[in-house]
Amino acid sequence: MTEVAGSSTAARQQAEPVVVRRLDYRPPDWLVDEVELCFWLDPRATRVQGRLRLRRADAGGTAPLRLHGGDQPLVRLCCDGAELASHAWQRDSDGLTLFGLPAACTLEIETELDPQANRALEGLYLSAGIFCTQCEAEGFRRILFFPDRPDVLARYTTTLIADERLPVLLANGNLVASGPLADGRHFARWHDPFPKPSYLFALVAGELVCRERPYRTLSGRSVQLQIYVEPRNAALCDHALASLERAMRWDEQRFGLEYDLERYMVVAVDDFNMGAMENKGLNVFNSKYVLACPATATDDDYLDIEGVIAHEYFHNWTGNRITCRDWFQLSLKEGLTVFRDQEFSADMHSAAIKRIEEVRLLQTQQFAEDAGPTAHPVRPDSYVEINNFYTMTVYHKGAELVRLLQTLLGWEDFVRGMRLYVERHDGQAVTTDDFVAAVLDANPQAGIDRELFSRWYSQAGTPLLRLSWQQDAAAGQWRLHCRQSCPPTPGQEHKQPVLIPLRLALLDASGRPCGLRLAGETEAGAPERVLRLTAAEQEFTFVDLPGEVTPSLLRGFSAPVRLEAPLTREQQAFLMAHDSDAFNRWQAAQALLLQALLAGLKAPEGGAGELADSLLLEAFHHSLTDQTADPALLALALTLPTEGYIADQLPGAVDPARVHQVREKLRGQLATRLNDALLICYRQQQDAGPYVFSGPALARRRLKNLCLTYLARSPAEEARDLLWQQARHSDNMTDTAAAMALLAETPDVAVDELLQTFYQRWRHQPLVIDKWLAWQARSQRPDCLARLCRLLEDPAFSLTNPNRVRALIGTFCQANPYHFHAADGSGYRFLEQQLCAIDGFNPQVAARLVLPLLRWPRFEPGRRVLMLAVLQRLAARQPLSRDLYEMVQRALA
Ligand code: ARG
Ligand code: ZN
Repeated sequence: MTEVAGSSTAARQQAEPVVVRRLDYRPPDWLVDEVELCFWLDPRATRVQGRLRLRRADAGGTAPLRLHGGDQPLVRLCCDGAELASHAWQRDSDGLTLFGLPAACTLEIETELDPQANRALEGLYLSAGIFCTQCEAEGFRRILFFPDRPDVLARYTTTLIADERLPVLLANGNLVASGPLADGRHFARWHDPFPKPSYLFALVAGELVCRERPYRTLSGRSVQLQIYVEPRNAALCDHALASLERAMRWDEQRFGLEYDLERYMVVAVDDFNMGAMENKGLNVFNSKYVLACPATATDDDYLDIEGVIAHEYFHNWTGNRITCRDWFQLSLKEGLTVFRDQEFSADMHSAAIKRIEEVRLLQTQQFAEDAGPTAHPVRPDSYVEINNFYTMTVYHKGAELVRLLQTLLGWEDFVRGMRLYVERHDGQAVTTDDFVAAVLDANPQAGIDRELFSRWYSQAGTPLLRLSWQQDAAAGQWRLHCRQSCPPTPGQEHKQPVLIPLRLALLDASGRPCGLRLAGETEAGAPERVLRLTAAEQEFTFVDLPGEVTPSLLRGFSAPVRLEAPLTREQQAFLMAHDSDAFNRWQAAQALLLQALLAGLKAPEGGAGELADSLLLEAFHHSLTDQTADPALLALALTLPTEGYIADQLPGAVDPARVHQVREKLRGQLATRLNDALLICYRQQQDAGPYVFSGPALARRRLKNLCLTYLARSPAEEARDLLWQQARHSDNMTDTAAAMALLAETPDVAVDELLQTFYQRWRHQPLVIDKWLAWQARSQRPDCLARLCRLLEDPAFSLTNPNRVRALIGTFCQANPYHFHAADGSGYRFLEQQLCAIDGFNPQVAARLVLPLLRWPRFEPGRRVLMLAVLQRLAARQPLSRDLYEMVQRALA
């Protein structure tokens, strides 16, 4: 292929990474009204033609036109039908600049792509013979030279041309024409009537089957819902399709938002960097979040599928109809859409359980991010590579900020805010400030200080909320003292107070919430209140209390803060048993467990004696024998905190081996002391019939499998038999996986045989093989790493598939701190080798895998030195992707 030569084409050198800053934002000089695309699909040489109808945003402007681009060749470049003179354009390492164009014109651009060689999985690539695209955040420029920024919204018409090996041809919008061509090939033309940014463009082509059903919106429009998968997966779509229907109904009912095209398509592909992508009318999904049947998917897989299907669907309004002005505003769509999918899942199942799971994720992962070198505000101020900002902070802390608004306003008023947001900004590219302004403008009565609230978006770090109190039981008074602060984070030394809603209740001796009246108030108080904390220090005095009270604080986790409160172990046990707020019952149980673990870690020998005191044992025993409680809630309450989370709570340098040892010790002690209660509970929760995916059945499986995690450490033979029985004979993956994961923890020839049998049965089902890889990657057995190195060579493993990489390498580095942090540095070197291999072809995946290494400052000196050495070697590597470069630099800064 020949490349058109621009006279002044600069050499395309590998430029120094550029820092992009939020405050440098300028509106686009040029707008694109219409885009016509034509693709001649071929694995090694796909020809792409684009016709762009452009105009200057400001007719009197003089700025040249900037088109972003990857390293694809430029085959043809014409303006209004005439080839552009070579002095009229210039190419550099990341695009084209065009000079002297008329203020309105039509540009024709032609290029050629090699989808088969694309292993970065950005732009146009092949996954198991299926052509697909991933354009968010900046992938469209790898397909065509284009103003690839989210504030340039255009209408797209896309034509796909292929031979009979690609019978299904899909793109965004509605199908407007299709049929055979004279040369034996066929075509399909799609038109998307909604202006959209380029990151929402998608095409898919391949041999796919479609599972579909009609849907009628509340206002009576009909929509065809379609899920496209490889033929072998045709039977695995029912759950995804049903989830989609439920999500659509829910959004209509809760927010009055309906779907807007004739069809809604979801395609499942095996090679995908992230979870899924909300391309307008044509979502592309990691097959992990589509395919399910009881024999291959666990309860958690079923829940994840429902949640991700809903998430991408909800983006149609929060993301597509209203999009981001620039990538610093990413949380505008992601935080809001995560919040929406959380609310949906809460309504589909148990709100309490959903909340606990979210908070657990936040506390274990987002808080860790906030405390480390990659801490950044929900609305970041700068980046080198935007793909590095698809983070827990932007997604999940972002969702908490939306939730804060709902907590402060109450949900009806919050819905009013959402309605104003949609009304005001439909069809626009806006900012998180615009979102907050709309929600607050709809609710002036609430008196929320916008400035104070907005600090949540601009300040990084997890606020620390220290509460203390004095009780005068005789006078019926309880005085609460609140102090908030926020630790420094990279680039932000000093923080200002934020608006913290503190939901609380005061429980009397029987556990009933008292009426809450503040001094000076006249009306009888509600049993629960939301206090607004607005300053560094504040006091509140509650009066008219019946006597001694136990505070239930930060109910439902009413703000994403670290809470320090002087509750005694007796009070925690009381809350665990009696708090009417299910979230706080869980939090109290976790606090008791954490205290026992931290005490063990403080003791010189890791606590030579008992870590589980009688208070903890009784609380556990009470829970296990409680016939009235929700089994799923009990399972969450009795789950030991992860080693990573325990490590994060330690004041000083972390020795991961000791954390592991103490946690295992407590697990063993609980197993031994509570063996009988665990066995009884296990048997009670066992279902007689076949697997069903329903709330109660799922709750029973959770509690049963929680019992099993302890029973696996019980010396009783009966416990061991149960474990083997379940691993061998369960009829569903939830129970099989729970048992297999436990068996795989320790070395045993019989277990090896079982793993081998499992492999033989499932080796052609990659999603099941991911589970098998993960059990082995998480194992404590001494030969764990040696086995992983062998698995890298297994035909079922592939370094180019992100799911396999995450299952094997990701699990080892994130969920197996014991071996990853081996004192001899072998775990770190293993990661280093894999990073060097992967960064060469998939920088996005490499930049995620490196995260556990970035936490080096938290560890004891021996490990710190080893981790740092790996980071320094990585920093010196040539070539190094921009993605990995940014991560490593932040860790070394
Ligand atoms: N917008 C997608 C979502 O639903 C995520 C896409 C992320 N892609 C990326 N390359 N970082 O959350
Ligand atoms: Zn999203």
